[in-house]
Amino acid sequence: MPETENPSKYLGNELKYLRKVLEGESWSSTGGSWTIALERAFAKKFKMNHAVAFNSGTSTLHAALEAVGVGPGDEVISPSITVIMDTTATIHANAVPVYADVNPKTFTIDPKDVARKITSKTKAIITVSIYGLSPDMDPILEIARKHGIPVIEDNAQAILSYYKGRLLGTLGDVASFSFENTKHISCGEGGVIVTSNEALAEMARKIGGHGFKNLKADEGRVRLNQDVFQNPHYKRHDVLGWNYRLAEFNAAVALAQLERVDELVDLRVKSANLFIEAMKTCDYLIPQEQPTGYVNSYYTLGAIYEGAESIGVSWEDFRKVYVKSGGDGIYGAWSVPYLEPMIANRKFAKRCPWVYENIIYEPGLCPVAEHIQPKIMQFKTNYRDLDLAKKKADILRGIIKKFASS
Ligand SMILES: Cc1ncc(COP(=O)(O)O)c(C=O)c1O
Repeated sequence: MPETENPSKYLGNELKYLRKVLEGESWSSTGGSWTIALERAFAKKFKMNHAVAFNSGTSTLHAALEAVGVGPGDEVISPSITVIMDTTATIHANAVPVYADVNPKTFTIDPKDVARKITSKTKAIITVSIYGLSPDMDPILEIARKHGIPVIEDNAQAILSYYKGRLLGTLGDVASFSFENTKHISCGEGGVIVTSNEALAEMARKIGGHGFKNLKADEGRVRLNQDVFQNPHYKRHDVLGWNYRLAEFNAAVALAQLERVDELVDLRVKSANLFIEAMKTCDYLIPQEQPTGYVNSYYTLGAIYEGAESIGVSWEDFRKVYVKSGGDGIYGAWSVPYLEPMIANRKFAKRCPWVYENIIYEPGLCPVAEHIQPKIMQFKTNYRDLDLAKKKADILRGIIKKFASS
């Protein structure tokens, strides 16, 4: 179905704010005010002391890893059902990805396997709220506290999700969000971290901002005093940094989106519930479990498809029939990261041979993840019109009925 069927996601102040950026003097966060406004609004929404904006939800992860002290040869534990970015950010820090298996019903990282994977080299744990659902955070936070290991929440797919009444983003040492095109709130590309640790926020901002020494936890402008900054004797950089800054245009759009985040999340949750209701009419589509006390913000609706065994229809054929009947494309889950060619071909090892020479990943490492990954179906929840979502959920219901009678 053409995306035009779905109303635009830019229904608020996006155009108005963009025009103001264009008319203003600075289009970069080094001198502008939109990134600061976005960061303050984000910190306020999460009742956290600091927010630092980045140009993606991957640069956030890289900067967060380095800001908590991860470096060459350290180990970082992340889940085995997730996108590649938790792995790549770890390798960008010259650290070693260590994979923990997942819970087969919630698809989130298994705290027991996290405990098993801890070594003296573990320097961070990345928890991923996959499809919008929080992992079981309490046991992970306990393990982390016991070993003095920082926890980085990767909430690229979750905003306004809750874990036992606590807002996701406020549980770990630092939390990362993405504003990539498909996310709940988007400005094309972008991201932000929130934390209440001032030193961590300052270091993350420096890592993302060329290591300018005058950057602070809440200050992204670099030319604070022209007389000092323009002097040839002035030394600017005290940290190795990258350029991960968010442009002011993106910040302005993300701010307008943040103003409507409750409404945008509500639309996804209501859309997901329409599909969950349709799935109740069969026994072979089992939605991602939402344990009591958890609130899923449903970036997408993940479900295990057991139709190959139950009704003799393959994953591919079920998807084909759904799409042919007018449904939106069902996505499969990404391969478990360590089985991607990028890891298997070992080219990454050349960047730091002494770290990676003995690091080998083989099938069987995370058996639960490897078992469920090919069965997962991801249903679209990104509808801005609930009548449209209902139309699509009714198509799913119709197909289930058709296969029941054939
Ligand atoms: C769980 C997760 N982590 C990290 C990222 C990376 O975010 P970005 O695409 O903004 O770099 C994504 C985005 O797809 C994601 O889904």
